[in-house]
Amino acid sequence: MTKKIIAGNWKQNGTLKSSVRLTKSIISALDKKRCKHEIIIFPPSIYFLPIQDLITKKKIKLGSQNVSAYANGAFTGEISATMLRDLKVNYCLVGHSERRHVINETESILSHKVTRLLENNINIVYCIGETLKEYKAKKTKIILRQQIQRFIKSNENNLRIKPKRIILAYEPVWAIGTGLVPTIYELNKIFSFIRATLNKLDNRYSSIKILYGGSVTPDNASKLMETNHMDGLLIGGSSLISKKFIDICSTI
Ligand code: PGA
Repeated sequence: MTKKIIAGNWKQNGTLKSSVRLTKSIISALDKKRCKHEIIIFPPSIYFLPIQDLITKKKIKLGSQNVSAYANGAFTGEISATMLRDLKVNYCLVGHSERRHVINETESILSHKVTRLLENNINIVYCIGETLKEYKAKKTKIILRQQIQRFIKSNENNLRIKPKRIILAYEPVWAIGTGLVPTIYELNKIFSFIRATLNKLDNRYSSIKILYGGSVTPDNASKLMETNHMDGLLIGGSSLISKKFIDICSTI
């Protein structure tokens, strides 16, 4: 069985108590089930320390949902990549649709975030995906090509040196939190397209893993994983309930 990546994005949910409880129940279930996959959790950053204490020496990796586009300094409220490194954060999300479309982060901001993370040797889960309007207008490939090219071009030299630090996550905006998912036929076409686009840019990018995210549940996870070139899943809602998250880990 090839090792997949199962990532849980907790978003802005939970309390200190519930986050610790969720972490503990994931740890104990994983210990019992001997899950072979790489597990990454993305809790709210204010809870990193107690969670980091629990997962040290466990196979679970810690990810941040966000990072400042700037190095340290007068940027009130921001958390720098250096601070993430200080807490031994292994991964960071960049370009999630909620940050692109709700917080209005531009490609330029995303590019600065990527630079800061690479400077600090933090792995990046870079999210791409089309909106419902773009999907209906059959513009998915155009949008994905643009997003991939802008991402790679804006940090080309760094990324050529560190392609292993990058994971792409294809998350159609219309599938996030809606219960809708693309068909396997659509996903096969899209994942082949993403892989081909990366290879065309540079064959060193063949090591970049590609995840799927958007309304993943224990019921659809194993079917989704039949998609060619899919290296794992980025899970939102279902990662907040330990049983669902663990069920997904064990079904694939
Ligand atoms: P969802 O979210 O699983 O709740 O659809 C996925 C994500 O936003 O990463």
